[in-house]
Amino acid sequence: MKNKETVFVCSNCGNEFGKWMGQCSACGEWNSLKEVKSFSSSSSLSSKKIRHEKIEIQKIDKIEENKNIFSTGIFEFDRVLGKGIVRGSTVLFAGEPGIGKSTLLTQLVGNIGGLYVAGEESAEQIGLRVKRLGLNPNNFDILGTNLIDEVEEFLDRTTNLYKIAVVDSIQVMSVENATGVIGSVGQIKESTFRLIQIAKKKGITIFIVGHVTKDGDIAGPKLLEHMVDTVLYFEGEKNGELRILRTTKNRFGATDEVGVFKMEENGLKEVRGDEINLTGDNKEKMGSAITMVMEGARPMMLEVQALVVESFAPMPKRVFSGIDYNRGQLMIAIAQKNLGIPLYKYDVFVSVTGGIKIEETGADLAVLAAMWSSYKEKPLQILTPGKPVSPLNKGRSLLVYIGEVSLLGEVKKVKNWERRKKEAERMGRVVVEMENVRELKN
Ligand code: TYD
Ligand code: MG
Repeated sequence: MKNKETVFVCSNCGNEFGKWMGQCSACGEWNSLKEVKSFSSSSSLSSKKIRHEKIEIQKIDKIEENKNIFSTGIFEFDRVLGKGIVRGSTVLFAGEPGIGKSTLLTQLVGNIGGLYVAGEESAEQIGLRVKRLGLNPNNFDILGTNLIDEVEEFLDRTTNLYKIAVVDSIQVMSVENATGVIGSVGQIKESTFRLIQIAKKKGITIFIVGHVTKDGDIAGPKLLEHMVDTVLYFEGEKNGELRILRTTKNRFGATDEVGVFKMEENGLKEVRGDEINLTGDNKEKMGSAITMVMEGARPMMLEVQALVVESFAPMPKRVFSGIDYNRGQLMIAIAQKNLGIPLYKYDVFVSVTGGIKIEETGADLAVLAAMWSSYKEKPLQILTPGKPVSPLNKGRSLLVYIGEVSLLGEVKKVKNWERRKKEAERMGRVVVEMENVRELKN
């Protein structure tokens, strides 16, 4: 990159371009290029500061695998990482502000001891959090700085003292010789690059906190994904108590595992178990439909709620939380066509309990069933007479709706369908099977 004033960075894939385009030529996303201040190439990744003490080769059979992996002390965290923390690796820990990144990483340091590089918060604030979480204060060394150079210098002085270090957050860190303001693309990339070097050199695992915003912040974690070994995303609705830790990249393990946590008074508690039931009570409610989605390799039972109400606005409202907006729009169109609900004059609100974002199509049928139930103002159990009842749950027919719905209203079996059905039945539920959404009306 030359000394240009600005570059255009894709907020989807992080690729950089010299000029603006309507569509990113790397990932194909539309309207994702944003103009950002460039940084001088003199300080960029080829930094002359990196010296290799001595160059040597390594033999593969001399590398011991298990010696280099250790536990986080948190089962759900280990599950997502693969087996545990890999020595000398770098982990990007991304999530929206306030989601609980600092909380979980504080718990991590509390478990195994380490260095906490506090770029955002004061030592006092972190001290208070450590107390609130009931962690051992002796496990914490807090380094308050915004300079990567200081982190490096400090770690050089304290060789072999730490197994892990947390840098909270990358957006407030900078490198002395790099140009660009704190938080700029250049500083963030350069800081990350230097941290990766330090992690390798020192054999310390570095957790790098990165904030993302809802609209996919440009100077954020997206830019760093290809640099680090592992990328973790911490997600959930801030107002809900549930948090999901998932990995989108892992050089040391699978990417389909998720960790489930609950945010409580004194920190994040793991939600263990092979299946997760987030439906709360077993009551039969109008506008409510139960579904079973897969979170990684685990089935998760969720409640979809819909409110279908006559609209007085010229443009009826469509509000979805926990499901994709376009998918929701499609379900509305399918409902209008196949269930005969005149949705053009109804406001529709759909939400998923527990603050979970459903990212698959297996909940389509439940969304339609919930809308149907709300429109008819009756619980689904009453709308579907003759359904088999479960011997569990006192003979009540607690129905579960699983299936992808096509444009034509056909209900399709989704991946892991049998697995989901079995789990639902184990929880005393009855899975409603149908071939077309029109059968909801029967
Ligand atoms: P935090 O870890 O600071 O979020 P992030 O680092 O991702 O920005 O967590 C923020 C929220 O978590 C804050 O609103 C308060 C809440 N919280 C709890 O509910 N319980 C706790 O024990 C702690 C430490 C935080
Ligand atoms: Mg924080």
